[in-house]
Amino acid sequence: MAATRVEVNIPGEAPYDVRIGDEVLDGIGAWCQRTAALAYAPQVLVISDENVAPLYLARAKASLERAGFKVPDIVVPAGESSKSVEVVSELWEAMAALGLTRDCAVLALGGGVVGDLAGFAASTFMRGITVVQAPTTLLAMVDSSVGGKTGINLEAGKNLVGTFCQPSYVCASTDCLATLSEREWRCGCAEVAKSAVVDSDDFFFWLAENAPALMARDTEVATQAIARCVVFKADVVAQDKTESCGVRECLNYGHTLAHAIEKLSGYGTFSHGAAVAEGMRFAAALAHELVGASLDFVNAQADLLDALGLPRLPWTADPAAALDAMKRDKKARAGQVRFVLLRDVGDWEICEVDDDVILAQLQAWNASAPKEA
Ligand code: GLY
Repeated sequence: MAATRVEVNIPGEAPYDVRIGDEVLDGIGAWCQRTAALAYAPQVLVISDENVAPLYLARAKASLERAGFKVPDIVVPAGESSKSVEVVSELWEAMAALGLTRDCAVLALGGGVVGDLAGFAASTFMRGITVVQAPTTLLAMVDSSVGGKTGINLEAGKNLVGTFCQPSYVCASTDCLATLSEREWRCGCAEVAKSAVVDSDDFFFWLAENAPALMARDTEVATQAIARCVVFKADVVAQDKTESCGVRECLNYGHTLAHAIEKLSGYGTFSHGAAVAEGMRFAAALAHELVGASLDFVNAQADLLDALGLPRLPWTADPAAALDAMKRDKKARAGQVRFVLLRDVGDWEICEVDDDVILAQLQAWNASAPKEA
């Protein structure tokens, strides 16, 4: 199957390609050579993590070296803890020691953590050098590698420091998905479901029909799902690059409760995607009450999530603690919790929801939670 190319065109930014396909990682060097921003880069520094590097680092480096680049690499520990000031500081020092100059580039090879961390290090080093993203998880391919958000965590919360920095090229090599665990796969499927529900009937019904094939990791369906997500996200980001005019916030559908679940249950207890799916269900219940979403919509979304192996979570929390976590999220404004609510597929709005409504809904949510298996 030939690779699929999606061009991302964001006003004020150089357009860039997202190439999606089997083994496109082996051609990354040639494509970097054809990319104006790094065609003459003396060095391309590959940043990866301890899980991904043994699997794919040699392939990425070989392709870049064949294209004539000098290719040093840095491998960081796997996991969210690498998105720290300490690790980014080590990266900056290493980049300086390697003699990286402003015409050099960084290749982020890995999942969302590596993409965010390497993107942040590159976008701040010497006031910003070129970034290429080579996502290796479904979640990173369908969401985090496109659109230019980078970031690291603070004690006070996730992604509290970051930049907007569009990559110059995104290489989504679908063969890398073969090594994902079932949990990681479903995690990515949740972001696919989010994109479909927020985007359009066309995407939603296509996904509902193809959910079994996506769950079976059918290559053609996975490639189409990634491409549809990228097209959707590129369109949203083109309208609101820095999440400052109320459009990009739609990508946070399901995330208001999800962030509270992740924080209260301890990061890693549930995958990010499982928490997002729960947040989508919760938001749909709120939307039924507040903005007239029909039960047909609520149930159709629930059926889609079930079909993608994302059932209701055995999660309950003290409603006051969950509300407090939502208020501390960086998306809250002046102490008001904001939800992306959908009246129907593709028909969304941002709503500030009163505390007492949220508390009542959380109480009902607790009461209907499935028991732990
Ligand atoms: N992942 C949401 C965004 O990129 O805005």
